[in-house]
Amino acid sequence: MINKRKVLKNKALLLGVTGGVAAYKSVELVRRLIDGGASVSVIMTEAAQKFVTPLSLEIASLNTVHTDLYSHPMAHITLPAHADFMVIAPATANLIGKFAHGLADDLLSTCLLAFRGKVLIAPSMNWRMYTNPVVQENLASLLSRGVVQVGPEEGRLACGEEGPGRMSEVPDIVAAVESALAKKDLANERILVTAGPTREYIDHVRFISNRSSGKMGYAVARAALRRGADVTLISGSTSLHRPQGVNFIPVETAEDMLRKVREEIPSSTVLVMAAAVADFMPGEKSPGKIAKKYGLLLNLVRTPDILMEISREKRRPFLVGFAAETGEKVGNAKKKLKEKKLDLIVFNDVTEPGAGFDVDTNKVILIDSKEQKKLPLLSKDEVADAILDRITEIKA
Ligand SMILES: Cc1cc2nc3c(=O)[nH]c(=O)nc-3n(C[C@H](O)[C@H](O)[C@H](O)COP(=O)(O)O)c2cc1C
Repeated sequence: MINKRKVLKNKALLLGVTGGVAAYKSVELVRRLIDGGASVSVIMTEAAQKFVTPLSLEIASLNTVHTDLYSHPMAHITLPAHADFMVIAPATANLIGKFAHGLADDLLSTCLLAFRGKVLIAPSMNWRMYTNPVVQENLASLLSRGVVQVGPEEGRLACGEEGPGRMSEVPDIVAAVESALAKKDLANERILVTAGPTREYIDHVRFISNRSSGKMGYAVARAALRRGADVTLISGSTSLHRPQGVNFIPVETAEDMLRKVREEIPSSTVLVMAAAVADFMPGEKSPGKIAKKYGLLLNLVRTPDILMEISREKRRPFLVGFAAETGEKVGNAKKKLKEKKLDLIVFNDVTEPGAGFDVDTNKVILIDSKEQKKLPLLSKDEVADAILDRITEIKA
Protein backbone atom coordinates (compact mmCIF):
# COMPACT_ATOMS: atom_id res chain seq x y z
CA MET A 1 0.00 0.00 0.00
CA ILE A 2 1.45 3.38 -0.99
CA ASN A 3 0.21 5.89 1.51
CA LYS A 4 3.16 6.45 3.84
CA ARG A 5 3.67 10.12 4.57
CA LYS A 6 7.13 11.49 5.07
CA VAL A 7 6.64 12.97 8.54
CA LEU A 8 5.04 9.93 10.16
CA LYS A 9 7.30 7.37 8.53
CA ASN A 10 9.25 5.36 11.17
CA LYS A 11 8.07 7.62 14.01
CA ALA A 12 7.36 5.91 17.35
CA LEU A 13 4.16 7.34 18.78
CA LEU A 14 2.80 6.79 22.27
CA LEU A 15 -0.98 7.24 22.29
CA GLY A 16 -2.77 7.79 25.58
CA VAL A 17 -6.48 6.96 25.57
CA THR A 18 -8.53 8.28 28.48
CA GLY A 19 -12.07 7.67 29.71
CA GLY A 20 -14.27 9.83 27.51
CA VAL A 21 -17.10 9.03 25.13
CA ALA A 22 -14.83 9.75 22.15
CA ALA A 23 -12.49 6.87 23.14
CA TYR A 24 -13.95 4.68 20.37
CA LYS A 25 -12.46 7.08 17.80
CA SER A 26 -8.98 6.16 19.01
CA VAL A 27 -9.24 2.84 17.12
CA GLU A 28 -9.56 4.73 13.82
CA LEU A 29 -6.87 7.19 14.92
CA VAL A 30 -4.40 4.34 15.50
CA ARG A 31 -5.17 2.92 12.04
CA ARG A 32 -4.61 6.27 10.33
CA LEU A 33 -1.32 6.87 12.16
CA ILE A 34 -0.09 3.41 11.18
CA ASP A 35 -1.21 3.99 7.56
CA GLY A 36 0.99 7.08 7.64
CA GLY A 37 4.01 4.93 8.50
CA ALA A 38 4.20 5.40 12.30
CA SER A 39 4.40 2.66 14.93
CA VAL A 40 1.90 3.19 17.74
CA SER A 41 2.00 1.97 21.35
CA VAL A 42 -1.18 2.56 23.28
CA ILE A 43 -1.62 3.30 26.99
CA MET A 44 -5.18 3.18 28.30
CA THR A 45 -6.42 4.53 31.60
CA GLU A 46 -8.72 2.40 33.73
CA ALA A 47 -11.68 4.61 32.76
CA ALA A 48 -10.83 4.33 29.04
CA GLN A 49 -11.34 0.57 29.25
CA LYS A 50 -15.00 1.17 30.14
CA PHE A 51 -15.49 2.76 26.70
CA VAL A 52 -13.30 0.67 24.40
CA THR A 53 -11.53 -2.65 24.95
CA PRO A 54 -7.75 -3.02 25.02
CA LEU A 55 -8.21 -5.85 22.50
CA SER A 56 -9.65 -3.46 19.88
CA LEU A 57 -6.65 -1.17 20.25
CA GLU A 58 -4.27 -4.12 20.32
CA ILE A 59 -5.67 -5.30 16.97
CA ALA A 60 -5.56 -1.78 15.49
CA SER A 61 -2.03 -1.03 16.70
CA LEU A 62 -0.58 -4.53 16.15
CA ASN A 63 1.05 -3.91 19.53
CA THR A 64 0.56 -4.77 23.19
CA VAL A 65 -1.71 -2.26 24.92
CA HIS A 66 -0.43 -1.04 28.30
CA THR A 67 -2.87 -0.43 31.12
CA ASP A 68 -1.13 -1.05 34.44
CA LEU A 69 1.64 0.97 36.07
CA TYR A 70 2.82 -1.99 38.15
CA SER A 71 2.67 -4.91 35.68
CA HIS A 72 6.06 -3.99 34.24
CA PRO A 73 8.30 -2.21 36.76
CA MET A 74 10.09 -0.01 34.23
CA ALA A 75 7.30 0.57 31.66
CA HIS A 76 6.67 4.15 32.89
CA ILE A 77 10.29 5.01 31.95
CA THR A 78 10.99 2.79 28.93
CA LEU A 79 7.75 3.53 27.06
CA PRO A 80 8.33 7.32 26.98
CA ALA A 81 12.08 6.85 26.42
CA HIS A 82 11.40 5.00 23.16
CA ALA A 83 8.75 7.40 21.87
CA ASP A 84 9.25 10.32 19.47
CA PHE A 85 5.91 11.94 20.26
CA MET A 86 2.96 11.53 22.64
CA VAL A 87 -0.68 12.00 21.71
CA ILE A 88 -3.56 11.98 24.19
CA ALA A 89 -6.87 11.41 22.40
CA PRO A 90 -9.34 11.75 23.85
CA ALA A 91 -7.98 13.85 26.71
CA THR A 92 -10.44 13.99 29.62
CA ALA A 93 -10.78 16.95 31.97
CA ASN A 94 -9.29 14.66 34.63
CA LEU A 95 -6.15 13.83 32.60
CA ILE A 96 -5.69 17.49 31.63
CA GLY A 97 -5.92 18.49 35.30
CA LYS A 98 -3.47 15.80 36.41
CA PHE A 99 -0.96 16.64 33.66
CA ALA A 100 -1.19 20.39 34.40
CA HIS A 101 -0.41 19.74 38.07
CA GLY A 102 2.24 17.06 37.67
CA LEU A 103 0.23 14.22 39.20
CA ALA A 104 1.36 10.69 38.44
CA ASP A 105 -1.06 8.09 39.82
CA ASP A 106 -1.37 5.72 36.87
CA LEU A 107 0.71 4.56 33.90
CA LEU A 108 -0.37 7.30 31.48
CA SER A 109 0.09 10.27 33.83
CA THR A 110 3.45 8.88 34.99
CA CYS A 111 4.65 8.41 31.39
CA LEU A 112 3.62 11.99 30.62
CA LEU A 113 5.92 13.25 33.36
CA ALA A 114 8.79 11.01 32.25
CA PHE A 115 8.47 11.99 28.56
CA ARG A 116 10.88 14.60 27.24
CA GLY A 117 9.40 15.19 23.75
CA LYS A 118 6.38 17.04 22.38
CA VAL A 119 2.86 16.16 23.55
CA LEU A 120 -0.39 16.76 21.68
CA ILE A 121 -3.75 16.63 23.43
CA ALA A 122 -7.22 16.35 21.89
CA PRO A 123 -9.63 17.42 24.64
CA SER A 124 -13.10 15.92 24.63
CA MET A 125 -15.84 16.56 27.14
CA ASN A 126 -19.27 18.09 27.76
CA TRP A 127 -19.31 21.85 27.12
CA ARG A 128 -20.08 22.62 30.77
CA MET A 129 -16.88 20.83 31.78
CA TYR A 130 -14.85 22.35 28.94
CA THR A 131 -15.86 25.92 29.72
CA ASN A 132 -15.26 25.50 33.45
CA PRO A 133 -12.57 28.06 34.38
CA VAL A 134 -10.45 25.42 36.11
CA VAL A 135 -10.29 23.30 32.93
CA GLN A 136 -9.43 26.43 30.90
CA GLU A 137 -6.70 27.36 33.39
CA ASN A 138 -5.25 23.86 33.25
CA LEU A 139 -5.22 23.97 29.43
CA ALA A 140 -3.59 27.41 29.40
CA SER A 141 -0.93 26.13 31.77
CA LEU A 142 -0.18 23.13 29.52
CA LEU A 143 -0.07 25.28 26.36
CA SER A 144 2.32 27.71 28.05
CA ARG A 145 4.67 24.75 28.57
CA GLY A 146 4.65 23.79 24.88
CA VAL A 147 1.88 21.18 24.82
CA VAL A 148 0.00 21.30 21.51
CA GLN A 149 -3.81 21.27 21.57
CA VAL A 150 -6.11 20.21 18.74
CA GLY A 151 -9.81 20.99 19.05
CA PRO A 152 -12.27 20.59 20.55
CA GLU A 153 -14.96 21.42 17.99
CA GLU A 154 -18.32 23.05 18.53
CA GLY A 155 -21.24 20.82 17.75
CA ARG A 156 -23.59 18.13 18.92
CA LEU A 157 -22.15 16.34 21.92
CA ALA A 158 -22.73 12.73 22.96
CA CYS A 159 -25.13 13.86 25.71
CA GLY A 160 -27.34 15.47 23.04
CA GLU A 161 -26.37 19.04 23.96
CA GLU A 162 -24.65 21.51 21.63
CA GLY A 163 -21.46 23.37 22.46
CA PRO A 164 -17.69 23.27 22.46
CA GLY A 165 -16.26 19.94 23.59
CA ARG A 166 -16.46 17.49 20.68
CA MET A 167 -13.15 15.84 20.03
CA SER A 168 -11.62 16.84 16.67
CA GLU A 169 -12.21 14.46 13.81
CA VAL A 170 -9.52 11.83 13.27
CA PRO A 171 -8.07 13.38 10.04
CA ASP A 172 -7.63 16.68 11.91
CA ILE A 173 -5.83 14.96 14.78
CA VAL A 174 -3.54 13.14 12.31
CA ALA A 175 -2.86 16.45 10.52
CA ALA A 176 -2.05 18.11 13.86
CA VAL A 177 0.39 15.31 14.75
CA GLU A 178 2.05 15.64 11.34
CA SER A 179 2.20 19.39 11.69
CA ALA A 180 3.81 19.19 15.13
CA LEU A 181 6.42 16.76 13.77
CA ALA A 182 7.13 18.47 10.44
CA LYS A 183 9.96 20.83 9.63
CA LYS A 184 8.64 24.37 9.24
CA ASP A 185 10.53 25.27 6.07
CA LEU A 186 7.58 27.16 4.57
CA ALA A 187 6.95 29.45 7.54
CA ASN A 188 7.56 32.54 5.41
CA GLU A 189 5.31 31.51 2.53
CA ARG A 190 1.71 32.39 1.84
CA ILE A 191 0.52 29.62 -0.45
CA LEU A 192 -2.64 29.85 -2.50
CA VAL A 193 -3.93 26.47 -3.70
CA THR A 194 -6.83 25.81 -6.03
CA ALA A 195 -8.42 22.36 -6.07
CA GLY A 196 -11.31 20.34 -7.40
CA PRO A 197 -13.50 20.70 -10.45
CA THR A 198 -15.46 23.74 -11.55
CA ARG A 199 -19.13 23.59 -12.50
CA GLU A 200 -20.30 25.42 -15.60
CA TYR A 201 -24.06 25.90 -15.53
CA ILE A 202 -26.34 25.05 -18.46
CA ASP A 203 -29.48 26.12 -16.60
CA HIS A 204 -30.56 26.54 -12.99
CA VAL A 205 -30.08 22.84 -12.12
CA ARG A 206 -27.66 21.34 -14.65
CA PHE A 207 -23.97 21.85 -15.14
CA ILE A 208 -20.91 20.55 -17.00
CA SER A 209 -18.03 19.42 -14.83
CA ASN A 210 -15.20 16.90 -14.82
CA ARG A 211 -13.90 13.92 -12.85
CA SER A 212 -11.52 15.79 -10.55
CA SER A 213 -11.88 14.75 -6.89
CA GLY A 214 -9.72 17.59 -5.54
CA LYS A 215 -7.46 15.11 -3.70
CA MET A 216 -4.18 16.41 -5.20
CA GLY A 217 -4.88 20.06 -4.34
CA TYR A 218 -6.10 19.23 -0.84
CA ALA A 219 -2.91 17.19 -0.29
CA VAL A 220 -0.83 20.23 -1.33
CA ALA A 221 -2.80 22.46 1.05
CA ARG A 222 -2.34 20.01 3.96
CA ALA A 223 1.39 19.58 3.26
CA ALA A 224 1.96 23.34 3.03
CA LEU A 225 0.05 23.85 6.27
CA ARG A 226 2.05 21.29 8.24
CA ARG A 227 5.29 22.82 6.87
CA GLY A 228 4.32 26.13 8.41
CA ALA A 229 2.88 28.06 5.44
CA ASP A 230 -0.11 30.34 5.61
CA VAL A 231 -2.53 28.51 3.29
CA THR A 232 -5.59 29.64 1.35
CA LEU A 233 -7.53 26.90 -0.42
CA ILE A 234 -9.92 27.90 -3.19
CA SER A 235 -11.97 24.81 -3.86
CA GLY A 236 -14.55 23.68 -6.35
CA SER A 237 -17.21 21.31 -5.08
CA THR A 238 -15.68 18.14 -3.56
CA SER A 239 -16.63 15.62 -0.92
CA LEU A 240 -13.30 15.99 0.89
CA HIS A 241 -12.73 16.89 4.53
CA ARG A 242 -11.82 20.57 4.79
CA PRO A 243 -8.29 20.83 6.27
CA GLN A 244 -8.37 22.63 9.62
CA GLY A 245 -6.30 25.79 9.66
CA VAL A 246 -6.62 26.81 6.00
CA ASN A 247 -8.41 29.89 4.85
CA PHE A 248 -11.10 28.06 2.88
CA ILE A 249 -12.90 29.70 -0.06
CA PRO A 250 -15.55 27.61 -1.81
CA VAL A 251 -16.31 28.40 -5.47
CA GLU A 252 -18.36 26.86 -8.26
CA THR A 253 -17.51 28.20 -11.70
CA ALA A 254 -14.24 29.00 -13.48
CA GLU A 255 -15.21 32.69 -13.43
CA ASP A 256 -15.79 32.55 -9.64
CA MET A 257 -12.43 30.88 -9.23
CA LEU A 258 -10.63 33.51 -11.32
CA ARG A 259 -12.26 36.28 -9.28
CA LYS A 260 -11.20 34.73 -5.98
CA VAL A 261 -7.68 33.94 -7.22
CA ARG A 262 -7.27 37.58 -8.29
CA GLU A 263 -8.40 38.76 -4.85
CA GLU A 264 -5.89 36.50 -3.10
CA ILE A 265 -2.89 36.99 -5.42
CA PRO A 266 -1.60 40.26 -3.88
CA SER A 267 -1.09 38.52 -0.54
CA SER A 268 0.30 35.22 -1.92
CA THR A 269 3.90 34.20 -2.55
CA VAL A 270 3.03 30.97 -4.39
CA LEU A 271 0.03 29.88 -6.47
CA VAL A 272 -0.47 26.14 -6.98
CA MET A 273 -3.22 25.70 -9.58
CA ALA A 274 -4.24 22.10 -8.92
CA ALA A 275 -7.91 22.72 -9.76
CA ALA A 276 -9.34 21.05 -12.81
CA VAL A 277 -10.91 24.16 -14.26
CA ALA A 278 -13.46 23.27 -16.97
CA ASP A 279 -12.16 24.31 -20.39
CA PHE A 280 -15.61 25.08 -21.73
CA MET A 281 -18.78 26.68 -20.42
CA PRO A 282 -22.19 27.14 -22.01
CA GLY A 283 -22.28 30.40 -23.99
CA GLU A 284 -25.35 31.39 -22.02
CA LYS A 285 -27.04 30.03 -18.92
CA SER A 286 -30.82 29.54 -19.17
CA PRO A 287 -32.50 31.16 -16.17
CA GLY A 288 -34.92 28.34 -15.25
CA LYS A 289 -34.82 24.61 -15.92
CA ILE A 290 -34.78 23.73 -19.62
CA ALA A 291 -37.72 21.43 -20.43
CA LYS A 292 -36.67 17.94 -21.42
CA LYS A 293 -39.07 17.46 -24.30
CA TYR A 294 -36.68 19.03 -26.78
CA GLY A 295 -33.23 17.88 -27.80
CA LEU A 296 -30.54 20.27 -26.61
CA LEU A 297 -27.74 21.74 -28.67
CA LEU A 298 -25.12 23.40 -26.47
CA ASN A 299 -22.97 26.26 -27.62
CA LEU A 300 -19.79 26.01 -25.57
CA VAL A 301 -17.27 28.80 -25.22
CA ARG A 302 -13.85 28.88 -23.54
CA THR A 303 -13.65 29.54 -19.81
CA PRO A 304 -11.08 32.07 -18.60
CA ASP A 305 -7.53 30.67 -18.52
CA ILE A 306 -6.69 31.49 -14.91
CA LEU A 307 -2.96 30.75 -15.08
CA MET A 308 -2.56 32.74 -18.28
CA GLU A 309 -4.39 35.69 -16.74
CA ILE A 310 -2.26 35.60 -13.59
CA SER A 311 1.00 35.11 -15.47
CA ARG A 312 0.35 38.43 -17.24
CA GLU A 313 0.16 40.31 -13.95
CA LYS A 314 3.10 42.53 -13.07
CA ARG A 315 3.41 41.35 -9.47
CA ARG A 316 2.86 37.64 -9.81
CA PRO A 317 3.65 34.95 -7.28
CA PHE A 318 5.66 31.80 -7.97
CA LEU A 319 3.38 29.94 -10.39
CA VAL A 320 2.81 26.18 -10.38
CA GLY A 321 0.55 24.61 -13.01
CA PHE A 322 -0.68 21.08 -13.63
CA ALA A 323 -0.91 19.33 -16.99
CA ALA A 324 -3.25 16.34 -16.88
CA GLU A 325 -2.85 14.57 -20.21
CA THR A 326 -4.06 11.30 -21.69
CA GLY A 327 -0.83 9.69 -22.85
CA GLU A 328 2.88 10.54 -22.49
CA LYS A 329 2.46 14.07 -23.89
CA VAL A 330 5.24 15.70 -21.88
CA GLY A 331 5.80 18.10 -24.80
CA ASN A 332 2.38 19.67 -24.13
CA ALA A 333 3.37 20.33 -20.52
CA LYS A 334 6.63 21.96 -21.59
CA LYS A 335 4.73 24.15 -24.05
CA LYS A 336 2.34 25.19 -21.29
CA LEU A 337 5.27 25.96 -18.96
CA LYS A 338 6.69 28.38 -21.54
CA GLU A 339 3.46 29.91 -22.86
CA LYS A 340 2.11 30.65 -19.39
CA LYS A 341 5.51 31.63 -18.00
CA LEU A 342 5.15 29.13 -15.16
CA ASP A 343 7.91 28.43 -12.68
CA LEU A 344 6.99 24.77 -12.39
CA ILE A 345 4.58 22.37 -14.04
CA VAL A 346 3.37 19.04 -12.74
CA PHE A 347 2.71 16.61 -15.57
CA ASN A 348 0.61 13.51 -15.11
CA ASP A 349 -0.81 10.97 -17.52
CA VAL A 350 -4.31 10.36 -16.18
CA THR A 351 -4.59 7.07 -18.09
CA GLU A 352 -1.72 5.51 -16.09
CA PRO A 353 -2.86 3.03 -13.41
CA GLY A 354 -2.80 4.70 -9.99
CA ALA A 355 -2.53 8.22 -11.44
CA GLY A 356 -5.18 10.82 -12.01
CA PHE A 357 -8.78 11.04 -10.88
CA ASP A 358 -10.20 10.04 -7.54
CA VAL A 359 -7.29 7.82 -6.44
CA ASP A 360 -4.96 8.40 -3.51
CA THR A 361 -1.80 7.97 -5.59
CA ASN A 362 -0.23 9.83 -8.47
CA LYS A 363 2.68 9.42 -10.86
CA VAL A 364 4.04 12.76 -12.00
CA ILE A 365 6.92 14.49 -13.72
CA LEU A 366 8.01 17.83 -12.25
CA ILE A 367 9.19 20.11 -15.04
CA ASP A 368 10.80 23.53 -14.74
CA SER A 369 13.10 25.54 -16.97
CA LYS A 370 16.17 23.70 -15.63
CA GLU A 371 15.17 20.11 -15.03
CA GLN A 372 12.66 17.36 -15.48
CA LYS A 373 12.19 15.06 -12.50
CA LYS A 374 10.24 11.83 -12.98
CA LEU A 375 8.79 10.54 -9.70
CA PRO A 376 7.66 6.97 -9.06
CA LEU A 377 4.08 6.07 -8.12
CA LEU A 378 3.59 7.87 -4.79
CA SER A 379 0.75 8.81 -2.48
CA LYS A 380 -0.73 12.21 -3.27
CA ASP A 381 0.59 13.36 0.12
CA GLU A 382 4.12 12.42 -0.95
CA VAL A 383 3.66 14.07 -4.36
CA ALA A 384 2.51 17.21 -2.53
CA ASP A 385 5.68 17.24 -0.44
CA ALA A 386 7.82 16.66 -3.56
CA ILE A 387 6.14 19.64 -5.28
CA LEU A 388 6.78 21.84 -2.23
CA ASP A 389 10.38 20.58 -1.99
CA ARG A 390 10.96 21.58 -5.64
CA ILE A 391 9.34 25.00 -5.07
CA THR A 392 11.73 25.68 -2.17
CA GLU A 393 14.73 24.48 -4.24
CA ILE A 394 13.87 26.74 -7.19
CA LYS A 395 13.10 29.71 -4.96
CA ALA A 396 16.32 29.31 -2.94
C1 LIG B 1 -20.69 7.89 30.36
C2 LIG B 1 -19.55 8.78 30.74
C3 LIG B 1 -18.94 9.57 29.79
C4 LIG B 1 -17.88 10.39 30.11
N1 LIG B 1 -17.32 11.16 29.15
C5 LIG B 1 -16.33 12.01 29.49
C6 LIG B 1 -15.76 12.84 28.50
O1 LIG B 1 -16.12 12.81 27.31
N2 LIG B 1 -14.77 13.69 28.87
C7 LIG B 1 -14.32 13.75 30.15
O2 LIG B 1 -13.46 14.56 30.43
N3 LIG B 1 -14.84 12.95 31.11
C8 LIG B 1 -15.82 12.09 30.81
N4 LIG B 1 -16.36 11.27 31.78
C9 LIG B 1 -15.77 11.29 33.13
C10 LIG B 1 -14.50 10.45 33.17
O3 LIG B 1 -14.72 9.13 32.73
C11 LIG B 1 -13.90 10.47 34.56
O4 LIG B 1 -13.54 11.81 34.90
C12 LIG B 1 -12.71 9.57 34.71
O5 LIG B 1 -12.22 9.66 36.03
C13 LIG B 1 -11.61 9.91 33.74
O6 LIG B 1 -10.47 9.10 33.99
P1 LIG B 1 -9.16 9.18 33.11
O7 LIG B 1 -8.86 10.60 32.87
O8 LIG B 1 -8.11 8.53 33.98
O9 LIG B 1 -9.40 8.38 31.89
C14 LIG B 1 -17.41 10.41 31.45
C15 LIG B 1 -18.02 9.62 32.41
C16 LIG B 1 -19.07 8.80 32.08
C17 LIG B 1 -19.73 7.97 33.13
